[in-house]
Amino acid sequence: MRRAKISVIGAGNVGATCAHWAAAKELGDIVLLDIPDRVGVAKGKALDLLCCGPMERFDSNVIGTSDYKDTADSDVVIVTAGLPRKPGMSRDDLIQTNVQIVRSVAAEVAKHSPNAVMIIVSNPLDAMVYTAWKASGFPTHRILGQAGALDVARFRTFLAMELGCSIEDITALLLGGHGDDMVPLPRFTSVHGIPINQLLPKEKIDACVQRAKVGGGEIVNLMGTSAYYAPASGSVQMAEAIIKDKKRIIPCAAYCDKEYGVSTEKGKGYFVGVPVVLGKNGMEKVIEIQMDADEKKMMDESISHVKDLVGTVRRIFPDLA
Ligand code: NAI
Ligand code: 2OP
Repeated sequence: MRRAKISVIGAGNVGATCAHWAAAKELGDIVLLDIPDRVGVAKGKALDLLCCGPMERFDSNVIGTSDYKDTADSDVVIVTAGLPRKPGMSRDDLIQTNVQIVRSVAAEVAKHSPNAVMIIVSNPLDAMVYTAWKASGFPTHRILGQAGALDVARFRTFLAMELGCSIEDITALLLGGHGDDMVPLPRFTSVHGIPINQLLPKEKIDACVQRAKVGGGEIVNLMGTSAYYAPASGSVQMAEAIIKDKKRIIPCAAYCDKEYGVSTEKGKGYFVGVPVVLGKNGMEKVIEIQMDADEKKMMDESISHVKDLVGTVRRIFPDLA
């Protein structure tokens, strides 16, 4: 049986850590690609990781490269290429530079791995997923953005800290864009089936919601660059669901038009954070939930922010309109 092939574009903090988690889970063979100026970094990190195999007991091959030919026929490509934010910057401040990077990366991926599922990580996430879709010409079900997996993991972590219980027993849901206006949903959050509002007072739940919303910024302020362990873990969780055809339900940035009322016109939709079924075809289904009026209002605001971001991309780069 052919092993799965996973290419990770960008061998920086998030990219190298994606390679690490994917190798540790022995998901398949891994190619770590960076620009020619940084090919030594890609090759060095790949070799270092490969040498963990005997100790961590994985047989995945790991190579570093700057040549897209080495990525040919990947099953999953995780795109982490681009600038991360620094203290004082928002994710949206990265748009001008990262659109150009993600546009060129997505075109190369489409050329060399025309059947891959692409998982975009670069920020501002919701605009980069759109850019990759336009630049690759991929069908919408094979383009996804990683945000919800991370954001919901942060929310679960902060709840577990508050409750003093295992994170394994906490299930939670979170929708919307990957920004400070993401939409955590306490009404769909439970601890081993017990609704969260029976275990914590509203102010404590609200504090966890707020910390999840700004969790990325909290880490940027602590270490001067953006997070990478959990973002990479979220990306590899998605890759695993696709490679193993697990049909897992994970919140991702996925294409919606009529779903969640994103657009009234078919084919004129946007990529927004929604729960989706992930399997071998990528996004296999968007799951729509019934929201109450407050949740719907938050979701509409988040979708409107995604539309503004995409509008900026279209304005600066008319070829991507
Ligand atoms: P980093 O600076 O450590 O790594 C970025 C890498 O991309 C560098 O090695 C750089 O040489 C490479 N790169 C730049 N242009 C490239 C190109 N055209 N082709 C191939 N590689 C290229 O940054 P880090 O921390 O890994 O973050 C990467 C991106 O992921 C940033 O945009 C960051 O904001 C985003 N991010 C997204 C998260 C999410 O949840 N969606 C979470 C964390 C970071
Ligand atoms: C994060 O949420 C910056 O998107 C990055 O950590």
